[in-house]
Order: sequence, then C-alpha cells, then structure tokens
Amino acid sequence: MNDIVRRVDHCRVCDADDWIEVISFGSHPLANGFQPPADSYEETAYPLDVIVCRRCRLMSIRHVIDPEVLFGHYVYLTSDSAQITGHMRHVAEVAAERSGMAPGDLVVELGSNIGTQLGIFQEAGMRAVGVDPARNLAEVANRNGVPTFATFFGAEVALRIEEEHGRAKFVLGRQCFAHIDDVQGVLDGVNAVIAPDGVLAIEVPYLLDLLDDNQFDTIFHEHLSYYSLSTLTTLFARKGLRVIDVERAPVHGGSIIVFATPESSPHGVRPSVAELRALETTRGIGTDAPYLAFAERTERAIGRIRSTVRELVGEGKRVAGYGAPSKGCALLQFCGLTAADIDFCTDTTVRKQGTVTPGTHIPVLSPADARRDPPDYYLLLAWNYAEEILAKESEFLRAGGGFIVPIPLPAVVTAETVNDAAA
Ligand code: TMP
Ligand code: ZN
Repeated sequence: MNDIVRRVDHCRVCDADDWIEVISFGSHPLANGFQPPADSYEETAYPLDVIVCRRCRLMSIRHVIDPEVLFGHYVYLTSDSAQITGHMRHVAEVAAERSGMAPGDLVVELGSNIGTQLGIFQEAGMRAVGVDPARNLAEVANRNGVPTFATFFGAEVALRIEEEHGRAKFVLGRQCFAHIDDVQGVLDGVNAVIAPDGVLAIEVPYLLDLLDDNQFDTIFHEHLSYYSLSTLTTLFARKGLRVIDVERAPVHGGSIIVFATPESSPHGVRPSVAELRALETTRGIGTDAPYLAFAERTERAIGRIRSTVRELVGEGKRVAGYGAPSKGCALLQFCGLTAADIDFCTDTTVRKQGTVTPGTHIPVLSPADARRDPPDYYLLLAWNYAEEILAKESEFLRAGGGFIVPIPLPAVVTAETVNDAAA
C-alpha cells in the first residue's frame, strides 16, 4: 500500500488491538477530491473499512491517510448556512456560561478554519487564538484579524500560545476532533494551555445519531473516529480531564458537545452526563449488536437509494444531486451512482463549481445554472440542511419537482408532503 496510508492496529483511545470488523465499503478516492473535467481520471482509491474496539467501543476506520495530505491545504470552509451561524452563536453563549469567562479572557480553538467561530468570541470581548493545519485557511483567518497558527494542534503549539498569551479559560474543538489520529497528543496540548479552572468543549458528530439515522455517508477518509460520550469519557480520563456536561446539537446530522475540565477544577458535574451515559447503556453501545445492525441497515439503504434513483431514471426522469458535500460524494461512491445516473450536482461553493465529483465524475453546477434547467428530482445529498433547503426550493417543489431524501432510508418529498418532511 501507498506510504501515505497507515493501518490502525492499536486503538487511539485505549491502546487495545481487539477489533470487531463492522462493514467494508471497498476502496474509494477521497470524498473531497473534486477534479477538473477530463477525458479520463487518475485517482487513488483508499480502503474504507469500519471497525469497533472491543474494549472502549471506539468506532473507527481502519486506514488513516497522512493528515498533511488531507488537511495541509484544506478546501472545506466553515459553512455560512443560517443553521451553522446560529449554532456558533449558541456555542459562544454556552461557553461563557459553563466556563464563567469574561471579556479579556483567552479562548483557544483547534481546527479553527477561517476563524468564524473565534470572531464571535472576539465580538464579545474575549482574546482569541486559533490553530489550524491548513495554511490556506490560517492565512484567511489572520487576514480577518483572528490570530491563527498554521499547524497541527499539540503540546508544542500549546506551549507557545501559553507563553505568548497565557492560559485559556476556554478551549474549543468543533467538528475537527473526529478527524484526529493522535488524540492523546492533542489532549496533552489542551493540558498545556488550559487554565486550572478552564473548560474544554469538544463537538463531534454523535455515534447514536449516526447509528439511528443510518448516516453511513458520513464515513469517509477524513472522519477517523465516531464517538459516543462513553468513549470520549474514557479518553479524557486518561489525560486527567473529567466530563462535566454534555449537550446534543442538531448540526451535521446530530452532534454532541462534551464539556470537560482539569480534574482538580471546581466545576461540578451536571445531570446531563449520567442521563446520556444511561441512554448509551440502554442502547447497548457496549455490545456488538448495534454496530452489526447498522452494517445490515446500511447495506439495505445503499441498495434502496440506488434502486430509487435508477427506477426514476428508467422512467425517463432526470435526477440531479442537491449539494456536493463530502458525505454526498461518499454516498454516490458507495451507491455506485455516477454521471450515467445523475445529471449534475448543484452546490453553492464556488470552488466546487465547474469540477466533477471524485470517483463518480458528476459535473458540479452553480445554483443559477441548475435553476435554468432544473431536473425532475434532486437527490438531497446535503440532507443535514433539509429544512433550510426545502424552504429555499419551494418554487421547484411547486413546479412539480421532488426531492429524494436518502437518509435514513430513501423517501421522496414533493409539494404535497414537504411539510411532513420538514417537521
Ligand atoms: P457541509 O454539510 O459539510 O456543511 O456541506 C454542505 C454542502 O452543501 C456544501 O458544499 C454547500 C452545499 N449547500 C448547497 O449547495 N446549498 C445549500 O442550500 C446548502 C445549505 C448547502
Ligand atoms: Zn479502544
């Protein structure tokens, strides 16, 4: 195998090497690897196999791609959707409430992207420092007035931040922690910069939501880990951090924000922690059953999505993709839906427009171009924004168009059924 791929033998949370093999999706090109249109494509495919640690129940993928390849120049920009912007404001509010921070206090964010979240803290009078390995994104953040180190977060940069800015009352990692292989090193970095009474908040897509909603398309090479609260608690405890609160958030298909603090800090534990731990126990996440059931449902979902699209195409309908998120590219790859089935994908991200989707080679068009010649059906690849998108596309629906919502199982939404679907 190519030397940019590492096979995971020992669990990144608990070091055990006893894995359940849950599902294999085969080998696929990177889900964010949009290509300029060409006559033929040379894309490297990497294996995508899902495993679960028998000891701490970490769900992981078996093969890790060199993070410099994935993130050194990162093309994913923090979404400017209304939902995400509202969520970031909410995170800033709960951060202040949980940590008791005041204007002038330091906030450190890992995976800070272009600094959108930190900008909100700055507006509230906090000092903010970001860390992001993507040099292109850190440059934008710095230009926008959010001081950002272009490197991987760990003890080295954390010590530098501590020297230059002091200790942080709040350390945040939103939707980046699941991308990290060396989680222990990252938590060493957190410990090097967090104040003795500081609060760490880690936001990750939630394992129970993934399992409940068949979110198999969120499994791709960038997403190394799929966390429960229980597994994160095990990990944090190894590094002297105790969990004090957890909140479920509707973003990215269902996420949890887990709040932790150094062991000796005065913060008390909220009931939310025991409540969610109890739910996880009830759902049997410490046993093999829910993972194996997920694998079975995933195979069924993949087959049904493929047949729903192909039946419509067989009836002479035009089907296009709505959005070209990484997970949508993964979904198309897993379902084997290519330019032979899907006319185009429409996406608001300018750098994706004019390219083709990785592996499946479907042209990506701007919303304006899509509107000029709309399809009969849109496969809603950006399903995590369903409510926002169905509202925005009311005209398309009124004109007789339909949406195929792929998750948890494919369902067709039309003008008649849209209100049920959005509810
Ligand atoms: P994300 O789920 O990773 O934020 O990606 C969402 C993708 O969907 C991103 O490429 C932008 C695209 N998108 C649209 O094209 N139209 C929309 O209305 C929304 C909300 C997203
Ligand atoms: Zn483990």
